[in-house]
Amino acid sequence: MEKVIVSQLRSAEWYEGSDRNAYIHRAWMRRGLPDDALDSTKPQIAIANTASDLTPCNMHLNEVADSVKQGVWAAGGVPYNLPVVSLGETQVKPTAMLWRNMAAMAMEEMFRANPIDGIVLLGGCDKTIPALLMAAASVNLPAIVVPGGPMLTGHFRGEALGCGTDVWRLSEEVRAGTITNDQFQQSEQSTIRSKGHCNTMGTASTMAVVAEALGMSIPGFAGTPAPDARLLKMSHQTGGLIVEMVEQGRRPSDIMTKAAFLNAIVAVAAVGGSTNSVVHLLAIAGRLGVDLTLDDFDSAGAGVPVLANLQPSGAFLMDDLHRAGGVLALLSRIEDLLNPEPITVTGVPLVDYLGDQPVYDDTVILPRAAPLMDDAGIAVLRGNLAPQGAIIKPAAATKKLLQHVGPAVVFDSIEDMRARIDDPDLAVTADSVLVLRGCGPRGYPGMPEVGNMPLPRKLLEAGVRDMVRISDARMSGTAYGTVILHVAPEAAAGGPLGLVRTGDIITLDVENRSLNMDVSAEELRARSQSPASEAAYAQPVRGWERLYVDHVMQADTGADLDFLVGSSGDKVSRESH
Ligand code: FES
Repeated sequence: MEKVIVSQLRSAEWYEGSDRNAYIHRAWMRRGLPDDALDSTKPQIAIANTASDLTPCNMHLNEVADSVKQGVWAAGGVPYNLPVVSLGETQVKPTAMLWRNMAAMAMEEMFRANPIDGIVLLGGCDKTIPALLMAAASVNLPAIVVPGGPMLTGHFRGEALGCGTDVWRLSEEVRAGTITNDQFQQSEQSTIRSKGHCNTMGTASTMAVVAEALGMSIPGFAGTPAPDARLLKMSHQTGGLIVEMVEQGRRPSDIMTKAAFLNAIVAVAAVGGSTNSVVHLLAIAGRLGVDLTLDDFDSAGAGVPVLANLQPSGAFLMDDLHRAGGVLALLSRIEDLLNPEPITVTGVPLVDYLGDQPVYDDTVILPRAAPLMDDAGIAVLRGNLAPQGAIIKPAAATKKLLQHVGPAVVFDSIEDMRARIDDPDLAVTADSVLVLRGCGPRGYPGMPEVGNMPLPRKLLEAGVRDMVRISDARMSGTAYGTVILHVAPEAAAGGPLGLVRTGDIITLDVENRSLNMDVSAEELRARSQSPASEAAYAQPVRGWERLYVDHVMQADTGADLDFLVGSSGDKVSRESH
């Protein structure tokens, strides 16, 4: 492979020369490094590391970073551990999504500010890979994702537990009275069996698939379980590859083209991936100036069969997918649906890795002739309830509810919903449509994963297990149900979701991609003069929340901050001394 001229290495702007500034940059970094470590021939590689004891799914990434480091050294580069903002999905309040853009912004600034030529992105838990990719897209330095990998399967009373999905299921069983709370509590010890992220096809697993389908990780890496020795082997390999990428000048904008994004959408559909991938892919594309729209998800995903028999849509878990052949084996079964052009971090197109991938278990990676669902993907709905769009994941929904007409039962906030949902006097039937607002990017703020709101206890006890639910919120990738999400504009941004009243008739028609309330335009205009609840959308007064609320965009464009859209490159114009 041809190498770039060494003086073109970005880090030479810090280290090359005999003036005082170059002296300072070098002297403070030496600290035992080999004499030639800061020569302008040596690619300087940051390992953007989201390891944190408070991000349990990423706790093991320091060990992974060590393997990357060895690979960088072996290839002639110089590695640096760069701890970056980390987000533990289950831990941070009010919701990790509030902090995704903050993490991405902080990462971007540190990538640009430091003397580095390439970056290895260590992620895992839900928001970490999206934030890393958004940041890498913004600075457009050579970058590769190392997916931290899913945990091994835990078991409770002899049955496999899908972490996330089975928490939702078991907690609903408690509310329905079919298991005791004690039994539910006992399962807590078994849910998280090992290091790694959630083992369903939730958001973390989906984003690892996304990174691979975009071409941003070594093909065959996604889905490797966190405790598997091959994770460290491929991390070492990644360390070598990033040095090569710097030498060849291969950047994220060369890899993450529009065609690569469409491939990622197809891959997400085929694995029955998380709806959260929609806001993340839109935000990453926005950072690159790639013209990706909500409608691309519907059109690119149309006709893609779900071949991954994985929770929450199917039966198995990520460990099973890896055993059955892994993500590449699954993608090889839909190779004809992928664009063959986009290259990966290796410089070779993704499809070139697919030809001879064996499948070892057809019950996990389903044959094309017998998919879990024929035509899944993400359906984009529009109508007078969601003029800019809303989404639903049909693979996780109840088929007969995909066409539904019913009266709205409206909740103005998550607190309102929690206070009333189990009220025996709540006027609700299985045909009702539960509407939750005040949970969008601006309204909450941060767009939490509450769209899969619990069903009323009295209906659960009567055997109801799914209802149509509509909100401006997101849903956990491990959740399921006939749940319409990401309604845009959200209620707090003046969207008509804020004008729905209990009793309004709502019509959902997924086949025709429509979501409407049976309320005239004239009546909606009259209602808009007196919004339902201003109090639910109180404005934060300071700090990140203030900045976020003032600048966050709506879900249909990725919920990034408006001033972060568009790549700003790696240039730093002024010296520090
Ligand atoms: Fe981290 Fe699920 S909580 S991936």
